[in-house]
Amino acid sequence: MRGMAVGRFDGMRALVSGGARGIGASTAALLAAEGAQVVMTDVLDDEGRAHAASIGAEYAHLDVADPGAWRAIGDGQRFDLAVLNAGIGARFEDLLDVPDDVITSVLATNATSLLVATREVARCMAGEGGSISVTASIAGLVAHTQSPIYGASKWAAIGWVRSIAPWLEPRGIRINAVCPGLVDTPILGPGGGDRMRAMGLAVLDPSEVAEAHAEVLRSPVTGAAFTVQAGRPVAAFEFAPVPGYQG
Ligand SMILES: NC(=O)c1ccc[n+]([C@@H]2O[C@H](COP(=O)([O-])OP(=O)(O)OC[C@H]3O[C@@H](n4cnc5c(N)ncnc54)[C@H](O)[C@@H]3O)[C@@H](O)[C@H]2O)c1
Repeated sequence: MRGMAVGRFDGMRALVSGGARGIGASTAALLAAEGAQVVMTDVLDDEGRAHAASIGAEYAHLDVADPGAWRAIGDGQRFDLAVLNAGIGARFEDLLDVPDDVITSVLATNATSLLVATREVARCMAGEGGSISVTASIAGLVAHTQSPIYGASKWAAIGWVRSIAPWLEPRGIRINAVCPGLVDTPILGPGGGDRMRAMGLAVLDPSEVAEAHAEVLRSPVTGAAFTVQAGRPVAAFEFAPVPGYQG
C-alpha cells in the first residue's frame, strides 16, 4: 500500500499507447504506482486488459494508426500526461522486395499516428496544459542501416516533436522524445534481449525506459530528444546547427 506516500503523478490523468507489453506496460505501471489515473491502450486486448487490471488502470482498444480511434478516445476526456509509445519494427533482406504495406504500416504506426495523436491529446490538455512523451529511438538519431524504414519512421517522430513543440508551448503543453537504445521487449523478435547480449550488445530493461519517460514528463524543457542507453544517464541530445539556415 502506498499509504500517505506522495507519488510524482498524484491526481493526474495519463494516457499510454501500446501499453499491453514492453516499454508501454512498464511505463503505465510506473505512472499508476506514482499516483496517476492511467488509461492504457493497445490492440492486444487480452494482454492489455490483464495488465491494466493488475496495475489499477483502465484499458481501451486503440489502433494508433486509425485517426477516428484517436478522436473517439479523446472525446470529452481530460489528460495531463500522454506517453505516445506504440510502435512496430520493420526489417527486410532486400529493398527491392519490400511490399508497399510494410512501408505504409510502419510509417502509419510509428510516425503519422503521432501527428494525429498530438492533435487529439492537445485538445484534451486545452486550458490547463500538460506533458507528452514520445517513444522514439536512437534509430531516429543515427543512420539506422539495420532497419532503414524503421529508422525513417523514428526520424519522422523526432522531427515532429522538435517542430511542433513551439506551437504547443503557448498552450502550456510540452512534448519531448525519449530515444532508447536496445530494450529487452518482444519487438526484438525470437530470443529477444538474450540474443542481443550474446552479440555483445548492451540491452536496457523496459523499466529503465519507463523511468526516463517519468523524468521527461516532469522536465520543464520541450522539443528535446533524450537518449536512454545502458550504463549512461538520460541526456538531451545536442543537435548541431545547420550552417546558413534562416528559419
Ligand atoms: N525494444 C527496443 O529495442 C526499442 C528501442 C527503441 C525504441 N523502441 C520503441 O519503443 C516502443 C515500444 O516498443 P516495445 O519495445 O515495448 O515493443 P513491444 O512490441 O513489446 O510493444 C509495442 C506495443 O505497441 C503495440 N502496438 C503495435 N502496433 C499498434 C497499433 N497499431 N495500435 C496500438 N498499439 C500497437 C503492441 O501491441 C505492443 O503492445 C515502440 O515505439 C518502439 O519502436 C523500442
